[in-house]
Amino acid sequence: MCFSPWLNSRWIRQLAGKESHYYQAKTEIRQFIRKLIEKKLNEDEEKEEALLPTIQSNDQKNIFLNLATDLLRRGVFSWKNVEDESNIIVFGAFETTANTVYYTLMLLAMFPEYQEKAFEEIKSLFPKTGDFEVTYADTQQMVYLDLILNESMRVVPPVPVVSRQTSQDLKLSNGIVIPQGVQIAIDMFHMHRSKQIWGEDAETFNPDHFLPDNIRDKHPYAYIPFTKGIRNCIGWRYALISAKVTLAKLLRNYKFKTSFPFEDLYFVEDITMKLKTVPLLELQTRN
Ligand code: HEM
Repeated sequence: MCFSPWLNSRWIRQLAGKESHYYQAKTEIRQFIRKLIEKKLNEDEEKEEALLPTIQSNDQKNIFLNLATDLLRRGVFSWKNVEDESNIIVFGAFETTANTVYYTLMLLAMFPEYQEKAFEEIKSLFPKTGDFEVTYADTQQMVYLDLILNESMRVVPPVPVVSRQTSQDLKLSNGIVIPQGVQIAIDMFHMHRSKQIWGEDAETFNPDHFLPDNIRDKHPYAYIPFTKGIRNCIGWRYALISAKVTLAKLLRNYKFKTSFPFEDLYFVEDITMKLKTVPLLELQTRN
């Protein structure tokens, strides 16, 4: 199992011949977001002309784009602020959740015994294959899938490292003092794989790590894929629900297989976790 630091820098992308793809993808995503904001503003203008309230119901009031465009209209936000905030939501939400779903399927393909247990749970909720509807109440019954998702984000945290700046001198439990104003990195990848915290099999994938008896005495910050505190992920609940809905549909309809061994995974640190070689998965239809 390897882990290599990778600088998220323009010149490395240029050397690797990736800069133009990167630029093109980024431009396309930004244009897509710009169009969504323009569409929202045009719709609001049409409503204003028709003398309809721009924010219509309490349900819609807290939608992010409504709040951002409202701040723009009131002159609190510039157009760039709306665009930047929208970009954060989209970049923060999509790649992380998509990677979590892929990494979970990959791990289940590598560890078929856990895939079968997850399949049995999902089959008991959805006896028939096809494009069935999954409700919030259904997701609450997927208790084994919870263990699997937690274990997947433990061994492969979708965001491997976050950074902070100390706002005051910080004394660690071992007595070391980190002075005020220092940039620190919180290395979730290695903390999630610490044998001291997770035991001898810390480096392998085993959903039993999250059984109530095994998790009860762990430090509340031993597992932090969404981090904790005032700047933690605002989308964590949504991310878990959407990952469960997607996984339930995929695992009910297909069996996932791979010949790629878990031990050969080579992790490449970026803003989100990447793999040097992405294992190919084989899909077999389920009945
Ligand atoms: C499995 C999926 C996801 C993972 C693993 C994840 C993880 C994280 C992490 C580690 C952070 C950094 C927090 C920090 O610096 O302490 C973060 C921030 C953030 N996430 Fe997520 N996230 C996920 C999905 C989502 C979704 C679905 C949304 C939106 C609907 C979202 C929106 C955000 C935003 C806006 C921030 C910045 C919060 C701030 O700076 O105050 N994330 N996320």
